[in-house]
Amino acid sequence: MSLNIPKHIAIVMDGNGRWAQRRGHPRVFGHVRGSARVRSIVKAADQMGVRALSLYAFSTENWSRPESERRVLWRLLKKYLMRDADDLHRQNVRLRVIGEVERLDADVQAILRSVVERLQNNSGLQLTFAVTYGSRLELARAAQLFALDCERGIHRPRDMNEALLEKYLWTSELGDLAEVDLFIRTSGEHRMSNFLLWQAAYAECVFIETCWPDFDAKDLARAVEEYSKRERRFGGVGSAGPEFTSAVSGDMLLK
Ligand code: IPE
Ligand code: IPE
Ligand code: MG
Repeated sequence: MSLNIPKHIAIVMDGNGRWAQRRGHPRVFGHVRGSARVRSIVKAADQMGVRALSLYAFSTENWSRPESERRVLWRLLKKYLMRDADDLHRQNVRLRVIGEVERLDADVQAILRSVVERLQNNSGLQLTFAVTYGSRLELARAAQLFALDCERGIHRPRDMNEALLEKYLWTSELGDLAEVDLFIRTSGEHRMSNFLLWQAAYAECVFIETCWPDFDAKDLARAVEEYSKRERRFGGVGSAGPEFTSAVSGDMLLK
């Protein structure tokens, strides 16, 4: 079977806490192990020919977690960036960060900015970290920015359409790649938790029991295999359509 490689994969990296607790460790140990998975998944996605990979690292709702847990997450993010920036550069990976980055501590913002800048001319895998990201916030912010442009006379309210709205989203720089093809969530949860709701409107979803700290290149390949078997119809009738629509005339059935 020839594989149909999704252009854009989005992953909700979930299950770190449960992974650790099941092993008798504190939740944050799961984040330590989870952050160590990112490197190999970026590499595997790149090697498969995936063009864009978006990883959900921290949601707007995750601010409700204890400060001690949040602190560990920021330290791990900094550590990852410091350790892996060279590797990402060698792999020609471009990095973007989406979300309310301005809410992060200055030192976290600074390192994010410096790595994003360093990789900004790379043309390989388009990697996006969603950090303090929420889709609803992204859409509300887009509405606000559009309203401001209307006030300034740059647009009129009737200009608004889907293509224009996309220009106000955090993912706008991805252009045609912003649309998610394959949406993966680990840890057996079957929900989107406010991740790329607009961009994943027609994504194929694959929910995996494995928790993120155990997710490896084989799991990614299996998810892509599953994706390859799916038929994306985008509201049409797909490949089963012509036989069934032409063999029986709709008019006859309605008489
Ligand atoms: C995902 O793992 C990582 C973040 C949300 C930052 P969790 O921390 O949500 O782990 P579980 O879902 O509680 O097991
Ligand atoms: C979603 O996971 C956010 C990230 C993985 C970063 P959560 O664990 O926060 O989601 P819920 O609370 O189970 O929906
Ligand atoms: Mg979770």
